[in-house]
Amino acid sequence: MSKSILITGGAGFIGSHVVKLFVEKYPHYKIVNLDALTYAGNLENLKEVQHEPNYFFEKVDIQDSDALEEVFDRHGISDVIHLAAESHVDRSISDPLAFVKTNVFGTVNLLNAAKKAWEGELGLHLFYHVSTDEVYGSLHDGGFFLETTPYDPQSPYSASKAASDHFVRAYANTYKMKTVVSNCSNNYGPNHFPEKLIPLCINNIKNLKPLPVYGKGENVRDWLFVKDHARAIDTVFHQGKPGETYNIGGFNEWKNIDIVRLLCKKMDEKLGREKGTSEKLITFVQDRAGHDHRYAIDATKIQKELGWEPSLQFEEGIDLTIDWYLANQDWLDHVTSGSYQEYYKELYEGR
Ligand code: NAD
Ligand code: DAU
Repeated sequence: MSKSILITGGAGFIGSHVVKLFVEKYPHYKIVNLDALTYAGNLENLKEVQHEPNYFFEKVDIQDSDALEEVFDRHGISDVIHLAAESHVDRSISDPLAFVKTNVFGTVNLLNAAKKAWEGELGLHLFYHVSTDEVYGSLHDGGFFLETTPYDPQSPYSASKAASDHFVRAYANTYKMKTVVSNCSNNYGPNHFPEKLIPLCINNIKNLKPLPVYGKGENVRDWLFVKDHARAIDTVFHQGKPGETYNIGGFNEWKNIDIVRLLCKKMDEKLGREKGTSEKLITFVQDRAGHDHRYAIDATKIQKELGWEPSLQFEEGIDLTIDWYLANQDWLDHVTSGSYQEYYKELYEGR
């Protein structure tokens, strides 16, 4: 096999789409999915590829340096695509240290394991770090995040991601490790854990439960279909220039309240409910602490230099997403049982 790629966080939302794309598109690559299977990791996301001969799974925490070294050794890892992270801003507000442990300490552990495994031939291997637009901070109503925008993280989550980005670039500068970083906007699509706005609303609309909109719902996010992010990661992995950063986004800004209304309208139609039924569920609740006002990615560089473009219009992607959740009640039942109920109560009750 020509490459042996370690994809971390491959049982999560975006990681599972990246793993599926690579396993199916590159049968001559060995794909090793390394994931600790936290509350956000779910092997059901990978059922389409679990029996493929080029797919391997390792249940390992990136905080465990011995286990990482062993995986690099046993699988002869040639390249890394690093997605494993604690990813939810609200959880980072209640438990910042969990984010330091995985996102900062875990990333440095992984860099060290790669550096050790590739000693003497660092220039031959790629360490690709997947990051977020949130490291750039919060925009007012104008302007975009460019690759050159100074970092200004505002939440414990984005601070931990910013720190991990800095470490990756520091390893490139100090040890001449071949690295690339991409910073993407908000993703949506199948397999998105229902703690995040879009899947949470789809699940609640389905169950006629309140739709908690933080503050006035005026905050703006820039949404990209998850499979388009996975395609962008494929493009950056194969064509990105070492040492470079690529912003990924769909030039697709929406106010939260408008997204929630769109979901209500579409789901009333799909579920055969009377027009306006779901909108009555909208409930404005206490705002997120330190809530970033707006994110907006300028994705010109990846479009011009690497030829990547989103393949889907937002409404098409939202239709596909709602249809997936309606067809996958088992998946939703599994991920919303147990600890999800406690999490939901703690975050939303009395808010
Ligand atoms: P997710 O929370 O759905 O999945 C994270 C995965 O990482 C899970 O499978 C989990 O089990 C695993 N994981 C967590 N801690 C781990 C540890 N210590 N060791 C090993 N595995 C661990 O996250 P996601 O939304 O798929 O995001 C993936 C990556 O993309 C993250 O790095 C995130 O910062 C970045 N990102 C996400 C978005 C988005 O909109 N979701 C946008 C831009 C960038
Ligand atoms: O921009 C990329 C980032 O997008 C990723 O790095 C993160 O991992 C990912 O979680 C996402 O962060 P956000 O905080 O933007 O996503 P979330 O779905 O949590 O929230 C989207 C917006 O909706 C945000 O303005 C907060 C608001 N919101 C969220 C929830 C969960 C609500 O109004 N109500 C809610 O119940």
